Amino acid sequence: MRHNGGTGRKRESVLFHVILYEPEIPPNTGNVIRLCANTGCSLHLVEPLGFKLEDARLRRAGLDYREFASVRTWPGLDACLDNLAGSRVYAFETDCPLRYTQAGFSPGDALLFGPETRRLPQAVIDTLPAARRLRLPMLPGNRSLNLSNAVAVTVFEAWRQQGFVGSV
Ligand SMILES: C[S@@+](CC[C@H](N)C(=O)[O-])C[C@H]1O[C@@H](n2cnc3c(N)ncnc32)[C@H](O)[C@@H]1O
Repeated sequence: MRHNGGTGRKRESVLFHVILYEPEIPPNTGNVIRLCANTGCSLHLVEPLGFKLEDARLRRAGLDYREFASVRTWPGLDACLDNLAGSRVYAFETDCPLRYTQAGFSPGDALLFGPETRRLPQAVIDTLPAARRLRLPMLPGNRSLNLSNAVAVTVFEAWRQQGFVGSV
């Protein structure tokens, strides 16, 4: 897959940036592509990916070219974050201190999620202030939410805080 960081088509108005760090499972990324297209978010995929964007399992999700237009790939997290230098970054992990509803999201914020079978590197989380490390509450004894579910819950909370601006 050709990197399109820096040369890919940019949306006219991006509500939030969703960053998936080294995603592994095609249907999860397919769900997030559709979510981003439906909510005005830009999706950033940080390589290595566990699949190719041409993967049939992504296409099977019924995605069209318009939905893929909001996707950019990056050779590493540094390149991605350099491009989003003006954005506040929020990291999401199960053991982060604050609930996601305690954050006051603003347009342009970047929402960073980890891979399905691992987690975000602690060194990445440690670069962020405590107020930007968020978790989604779960019942005790549970491991984690599905990645695409975690992204959906978060994007809708962030969008809700903006009064669902731009929606019909
Ligand atoms: C499936 S989870 C990672 C799996 C997990 N590290 C494990 O092996 O038990 C993928 C990503 O979804 C996000 N995630 C899932 N559940 C979450 C929660 N309760 N709070 C915050 N983020 C969550 C995190 O970004 C996480 O890295």
